[in-house]
Amino acid sequence: MGGGPISSSSASTVVPSSEAQPHTTPPSPFSLPDYLSSLPPPVFGRSLRQYWNFSSNYVNLNHGSYGSVPLPVLKAMRERSDRIEENPDRFIVLEAAKELALVRERLAGLVNAPVDEVVVAPNATHAINTVLWNIKWQPGDIILLFTTQYGAIFNTAAHIADVNPGVTLLEIPLIFPTTHAEIVQLVKDTVAKVKKDEEKTGKKIKLSVVEAISSIPGVVMPWREICTFYKQEGILSVVDGAHELGQLPVDLGTADCDFWAGNAHKWLMSHRGGTLFFVPKRNQHLILSSFPTSAFYYSKNYPKYARTKEWTFVEQFDWTGTIDFSPFLSISPAMDFRDWLGGEQAITIYCHDLALKGGARMAELLGTGIMDNKKGELTANMVNVYFPDNFPHVESQGGIINGLLFEHNFRVGAGFHDGRWFARCSAQVFCDITDFEHGAKVIQEISNSLQKRAEEETTDSA
Ligand SMILES: Cc1ncc(COP(=O)(O)O)c(C=O)c1O
Repeated sequence: MGGGPISSSSASTVVPSSEAQPHTTPPSPFSLPDYLSSLPPPVFGRSLRQYWNFSSNYVNLNHGSYGSVPLPVLKAMRERSDRIEENPDRFIVLEAAKELALVRERLAGLVNAPVDEVVVAPNATHAINTVLWNIKWQPGDIILLFTTQYGAIFNTAAHIADVNPGVTLLEIPLIFPTTHAEIVQLVKDTVAKVKKDEEKTGKKIKLSVVEAISSIPGVVMPWREICTFYKQEGILSVVDGAHELGQLPVDLGTADCDFWAGNAHKWLMSHRGGTLFFVPKRNQHLILSSFPTSAFYYSKNYPKYARTKEWTFVEQFDWTGTIDFSPFLSISPAMDFRDWLGGEQAITIYCHDLALKGGARMAELLGTGIMDNKKGELTANMVNVYFPDNFPHVESQGGIINGLLFEHNFRVGAGFHDGRWFARCSAQVFCDITDFEHGAKVIQEISNSLQKRAEEETTDSA
């Protein structure tokens, strides 16, 4: 028998008896440091920075990009990691799948999904690749995307189209701020047009990737309505929920999506990387293999290395090659930490309110505005604030802006949309309004220095 873990359901049949000794599985979900439980309830805002490892003068309004792990979660993860190393074989062979099952259980509870429809993947890119590479593509199939699609996901679809002759991409143009109703209408119009032309073109929309919250700009999308429409139209829907877990409540029990992937390592505060990957039972036959193919893959035609009697979805993801499991397991203490903070609702209320107030204050100081509609439909905990008018609004500034933000020890997600630069600011429990005020000052300084540079260049070339 090769390396790898024992699946949770098959452990008793596969473990050689010499290894199946009595053993107490370590407590899991493993707990947060004891000192937390004796502390008074935390107050949201800058005082919470003591639970993160940020350097003292670093101002972080960019939690949305890579997440940031609270120290108690790091501590719990590292302690578990140390214990794994006391006997790595025991962990991998006997404990990994069971501990992962506990993490899956907690995640499934969070999104109201059955536990056997939820697995953990390394990241959203990985999970969405898993879907797209499992689908059987035919000439004439269209993958429907949006112009705001996250780069790696667009590229995944492009790669599929590159290697499957006759498969094409179609992008729905999105220009923000627009409304949810307008986005849904655009989707409906696009689908209707493709259907109308189908006889002539031989093309049909097979699948669409919809972001729950887009990346840059960070905009809340009406993914539920879009998925319901796709269901009526027989179009497979893949929801890229990279930003949604821990930012907005997610109820997959009532959603019409076909596949859903959401990072825990962003807003849920676990260690990079760990992603909830949801495939409802009705679609599990479409995802025959994990990505890469697992030790538990059951080939009907070549069952030479089949380790279980029949294929099951969850087992495909218990072991997809050797990785460090501790980030996956850190999802559990991250959820404990969030409970200690006051729970999902309290966190969401604080962060959303701060995004609105902080965004408004930053826009006021910069003399600009935020990218949202009158109903405020587009903003969750990330708010997009336009750069000042004196900023050179040309797309090629990305590298320079990044460099200057690092020089100022300050981060936002800087993006270019519809001819203007903007700052995507992430409101997190460790931020308060002063972070946004500081951000406005930095952005104004960057704008002034770039404007000065542009003026000098004009003078030099005159
Ligand atoms: C909308 C969206 N999708 C996918 C991703 C990719 O996430 P990951 O790097 O975890 O695969 C991101 C990352 O920021 C994102 O914003």
